[in-house]
Amino acid sequence: MSTATLTLNDQAYEFPVTVGSEGEVGIDIGKLRGQSRAITLDPGYGNTGSCESAITYIDGENGILRYRGYDIDELAEKASFVEVSYLLVYGDLPTRTELDKFRSRLVSHSMLHEDMKKFYEGFPPSAHPMSVLSTMVASLSTYYSNEDEEDAVEKNIIRLLAKLKTIAAFSYKKSIGQPFVYPRNDLDFVGDFMRMMFAVPTEPYELSDVVHEALDMLLILHADHEQNCSTSTVRMVGSSGADIFSTVSAGVSALSGPLHGGANQAVIQMLKGIRDDGGDYAKYIEKAKDKSDPFRLMGFGHRVYKNFDPRARLIKEAADRVLARLGHSDPLLDIAKHLERIALEDDYFVERRLYPNLDFYSGIVYRAMGLPTNMFTVLFALGRLPGWIAQWKEMRDQKSRIHRPRQIYVGHTARPYVPLHER
Ligand code: CMC
Repeated sequence: MSTATLTLNDQAYEFPVTVGSEGEVGIDIGKLRGQSRAITLDPGYGNTGSCESAITYIDGENGILRYRGYDIDELAEKASFVEVSYLLVYGDLPTRTELDKFRSRLVSHSMLHEDMKKFYEGFPPSAHPMSVLSTMVASLSTYYSNEDEEDAVEKNIIRLLAKLKTIAAFSYKKSIGQPFVYPRNDLDFVGDFMRMMFAVPTEPYELSDVVHEALDMLLILHADHEQNCSTSTVRMVGSSGADIFSTVSAGVSALSGPLHGGANQAVIQMLKGIRDDGGDYAKYIEKAKDKSDPFRLMGFGHRVYKNFDPRARLIKEAADRVLARLGHSDPLLDIAKHLERIALEDDYFVERRLYPNLDFYSGIVYRAMGLPTNMFTVLFALGRLPGWIAQWKEMRDQKSRIHRPRQIYVGHTARPYVPLHER
C-alpha cells in the first residue's frame, strides 16, 4: 500500500493512500488530528472526499458520467427512468421479473393519505413548489415513522419513490386552482405524472410520444451526480439517524438554491431578461466577467466538469428534437445558443473552463413540454430522488459515522463578561 507523508513543524506523519476502481487517489487523513492535532481546511470541500461510493463515477476532465458503471449516453438512449432508479438503488439493472415487481410496488404506493390533501390548503397561492415539496416530503415521516416495522426501510424507499410525483403534481394543481388528479396504476411513471399535472375532469388527456420520451430521458440525466450539494446534505442529515423522509426533505431544500438545482429556473429568467433588454448578448457576457457585478451566467460552470457536461450535450440535442417534432420555435433557445457560442470563444470562459451545465438547456425543453417555470426544479428533484435514496442507503450500509466537520476558530480569544451597565 502506498503512503503520503506530511511534514508539520519538522515532524513527519504518514497516511495511507486509497485508490478507487477508476484510479482516483485519496489520502486517508482519518488519523491526522489524533496524531498531529492539526486538521485540513477546505472551505467548499473542493478537495475533500467524504466517502467511498460505488454508485456514480464522474471524470470531469473528460466529460464522463456513469451510473453503476453504465455510461450516461447509453442509459439515456436505451433505459427507462424506472429501470435506472432500480439500478441506482439496488446496484444492478433489473431482470424482467425484478422490473415488473418493482413497477407494481411503485404503483401500489402512489396515492397520498387523504388527510395530506388538507396540508395543501394551508399554503399561500404564491408558495414556490419546491418549498411545498420539501414540506410535504418531511410530512410523510408523520405517517410512516415506524422504522421498527419489518422491512420498514425498504417500504419507505418504495413509498417515497412512488409518492413524490403525486406530491409534485398536486402542488402544481393547487397553485393553479385546479382539482387534484389521482394517480392511475395502468400508466407508466412519466405517463402518470404528466396526467396528474395536466389532465382536467372536463376533457380527455393525451400525452405525445415525443414529450413522454424526452421527459423520461431528462429524469435519467438528473438521477444521480455523486457528492453534490443536495446529495451531501442527504448523507449529512442521514448520518444523524434521521428518517428517510426528513433526510430527503433536507436534500430538496438544498437543491432549491440557484447555484444548484434552482439554476434551471434562473436560466429561463436570465434568458427572458436578455430578450426583454433587446437581446444584447455581449453586454451580458461582459456583466458575467465583471467581478464587481453579481451577475453570473446561469447554467454555466461546474465544480467537477472542466469539459462539456455530457448531460448538457444530450439535453441540447433533446431541445432541438422536441421543438422540431412539436413544431414549436422558442426565441429563448436562439438566445441560449448565441450566448453559448460567444462564451465558448471568450478567454474568460475558456481559461476557467466554464461550459454549459445540464441546467442551461433543460428549461427550454420543459417549456416546450408546457411545464411551468416554477416547476423546473421540482422536476430536477423528481429525477434526483433515486440518487438521493441510493446514497442514503449506501451510507447506512457502510455504517457511516455521524458527519461532523471541524473548523479553525478565528474569533475573539477569551475575554471577561462585561455587565450590561458597563457596555
Ligand atoms: N459565470 C461567470 N463566472 C463564473 C461562472 C458563471 N456561471 N461560474 C464560475 N465562474 C467563475 C468564478 O467567478 C471564478 O472566477 P475566478 O477564478 O476569477 O474567481 C471561477 O469561474 C471558478 O468558479 P467558482 O465559483 O470557484 O466555481 P465553483 O466550483 O465554486 O462553483 C458553480 C460552481 C456551478 C456554483 C458556478 O459555476 C456557478 O455559480 N454557476 C452558475 C449557477 C449554475 O449554473 N448552477 C448549476 C450547476 S449544475 C447543476 C447542479 O448540479 O446543481
